Amino acid sequence: MHLAQLARRGFAAAVLCGAGFAFAADLPNVTILATGGTIAGTGATSTTTVGYTAAKIGVEKLIEAVPELKTIANVKGEQVFQIASENMTNDYWLTLAKRVNTLLRQSDVDGIVITHGTDTIEETAYFLNLVVKSDKPVVIVGAMRPATAISADGPINLFNAVGVAGSKDAKGRGVLVALNDEIQGAREVTKTSTMLANTFRAPELGNLGYVVRGQPMFYRASTRKHTTATEFDISRLDKLPEVDIVYGYANAKRLPVDAFVAAGDAGLVHAGTGNGSLANPVKEALKEARAKGVVIVRSSRTGSGITARNGEANDDELDFVAADNLNPQKARILLMLALTRTHDTGEIQRMFQTY
Ligand code: DGL
Repeated sequence: MHLAQLARRGFAAAVLCGAGFAFAADLPNVTILATGGTIAGTGATSTTTVGYTAAKIGVEKLIEAVPELKTIANVKGEQVFQIASENMTNDYWLTLAKRVNTLLRQSDVDGIVITHGTDTIEETAYFLNLVVKSDKPVVIVGAMRPATAISADGPINLFNAVGVAGSKDAKGRGVLVALNDEIQGAREVTKTSTMLANTFRAPELGNLGYVVRGQPMFYRASTRKHTTATEFDISRLDKLPEVDIVYGYANAKRLPVDAFVAAGDAGLVHAGTGNGSLANPVKEALKEARAKGVVIVRSSRTGSGITARNGEANDDELDFVAADNLNPQKARILLMLALTRTHDTGEIQRMFQTY
């Protein structure tokens, strides 16, 4: 019985089904860490695909709804937290990353799947891509339709994600995002549609591969350093530096920059028009912020392409950092982690060319 049927029947069947999973020595051991999102969402009817409530179903019921999991892995579940992912925070990230690293140090864990809301999957994925200290697969999965909907995509996405997380071929590729039969790299993946099942794309660069019959098929790999090859260590951190994003648009004002600086931000990312362009009032505010020690990164709101150093602004003269091809929300993550190690803009620029 699948999740949609279980959810529609008030999960009574989940108890009756009690799909226990017997251990199989020849299968990989995969731990599923649940955090919420639409994959755990419920709606009033089977046709409610918007206006449902995310983060309602617990990890055990997610697992019980896909009995086929036991044919590809020995699965255990943990509910790390239960949120709609627009409410993700730095603190949740530190909790999740520390749990992932603890589990991956265990010899009886071969891979991890994280169930997550799709709104900020790309951010959690990139954060973990920079701080997970293992080459074992970490696969983040979500759904675009709630568990109660006709053709809910959660169950098949979960089955595929477990298949990838249990595969030796997925080792050493960094954190992966698997939905809609595709495998995306954490660094380049982004949510491109508010509603469509194929919302996760890697603009201009494409996916890393596909999932077929629950097994990964890879065709390329990221060229940037990740996981065990990064210099970032969050094991002793209880807090991350405050970094926010200022959006660029016609008639943009300096007010948001001044507000974040007054709030004590350590860094700011500017989501500029075009190739990271700065409107004059904003540029002046960012120059003043820089003079106060705030580290500034220029990114672009366009969604793809490289924000080139010394292109639309003289970064050498301004002492700003160019984001390379990281979108603003990912540039924020790298800048936060960079600031745990240095405030030197030359060193930070090196990091943006490395990760
Ligand atoms: N509230 C959104 C989230 O938790 C729902 C989107 C989803 O999970 O697909 O990210």
